[in-house]
Amino acid sequence: MSSIHLLLNTSISPAAYNTRRSMKVENGRISVTSNGRRLVARATVDVRSPESSSSASAGKLRSAEVMEAEARVLVGTYARAPLVLSSGKGCKLYDLEGREYLDMTAGIAVNALGHGDPDWVRAVTEQASVLTHVSNLYYSIPQVRKNSGFVELAKRLNACSFADRVFFCNSGTEANEAAIKFARKHQRFSRPDVKQPPTEFISFSNSFHGRTMGALALTSKEQYRTPFEPVMPGVTFLEYGNIQAAQELIQSGKIAAVFVEPIQGEGGIYSATKEFLQSLHSACDDAGSLLVFDEVRSYLLQQKFILCILLLESLPIGAVLLTERVAASISYGDHGSTFAGGALVCNAANTVLDKISQPEFLASVSRKGKYFKEMLMQKLGGNPHVGEVRGMGLIIGIELDVPASPLVDACRNSGLLILTAGKGNVVRLVPPLVVSEQELGLAAEILLECLPVLDKSKSN
Ligand SMILES: Cc1ncc(COP(=O)(O)O)c(C=O)c1O
Repeated sequence: MSSIHLLLNTSISPAAYNTRRSMKVENGRISVTSNGRRLVARATVDVRSPESSSSASAGKLRSAEVMEAEARVLVGTYARAPLVLSSGKGCKLYDLEGREYLDMTAGIAVNALGHGDPDWVRAVTEQASVLTHVSNLYYSIPQVRKNSGFVELAKRLNACSFADRVFFCNSGTEANEAAIKFARKHQRFSRPDVKQPPTEFISFSNSFHGRTMGALALTSKEQYRTPFEPVMPGVTFLEYGNIQAAQELIQSGKIAAVFVEPIQGEGGIYSATKEFLQSLHSACDDAGSLLVFDEVRSYLLQQKFILCILLLESLPIGAVLLTERVAASISYGDHGSTFAGGALVCNAANTVLDKISQPEFLASVSRKGKYFKEMLMQKLGGNPHVGEVRGMGLIIGIELDVPASPLVDACRNSGLLILTAGKGNVVRLVPPLVVSEQELGLAAEILLECLPVLDKSKSN
């Protein structure tokens, strides 16, 4: 089994462990750095000019208006933080009050190039001026850039993976819905003489595959599923990593496909072992079941039959990668999407792939991930609330013995945006892949400063 991923580690650069003492004033915050530790006067000291503080209070007012207006007109599906973001550049985001935030969320692990990357902006704007959307009933040639468009994108995805063919869609959940249908159709198509071909699925503990009915049925968190039952029947959840249980069930001959995340993000940043993935591969091969790797950002293009990925760009795009053998089961009309594979998103995705597939870029992601993880272990590891620091590349989780949300709030107030995962007790850090070591150092410092807020929390 071959794999290409972002996570091949080399060395740690000591750049952020600087020993200078300095004071910086940034966007109305003072931050003091001493021996590489950032001390805080930041959030409490207002150093804005009278002008900027009046625009800050105007911003505050507008933020309150935005939040109120949203609450009146949108369905309440998101528990949003009280923060109204208005612009971004690189790994920085800015709110309406002019405050700056270091973004360790990357739109939940999808903005690989951060915000406003000039090449990405050019690709989007140039394409938008020529052709944005036509129906999938026609062929189209986006002309503005050489190497652009969905054919080129599909070629490149196939070239760097096991796959022969690609189905484009608009999101992660849609990629999984397509994979469910392709797996069922493939089982039927490849066993024309069997009265009841396999229709069931295996998924795993802590899994997250999306929120539409099929993908939801594969998602382990009960609170996501139960309000909407009955979801798609025929899904068995097994313990993530339990090779024997998976082999036994696959051998039953009822399984159309096994869905697995090589790295579980939402579930709490757990990585599958190579042995587990390989054993799934051979058990599926033997039984004629399909194996679906569901990946967001992990870019772990393995030798498998179907791969669902949410591509690493700031526009909605997902892709399902298949072998010729599986693709041959799919006929006209079996599946489709109005917007999928459009010129605009594919042109932008090609720009992202151009950059992130460069060997130097991949090596830098590995190096920064290792550097960040080691720094977090070193700086935060001594705190009694901090357990394991885990993850691969720039997908990092910090397990806590208490809920992470007070820390998330405190970090946000100190200018750092982070996520939770797992049962709410894991801090999830997924910065844009272009993040600098200096920014990673700053994130670690803010986390360290904010940790005491957890002393007030009750243990899980
Ligand atoms: C592994 C995995 N699959 C599917 C999804 C669903 O993606 P979307 O929100 O684009 O539907 C996610 C979202 O976080 C994910 O992490």
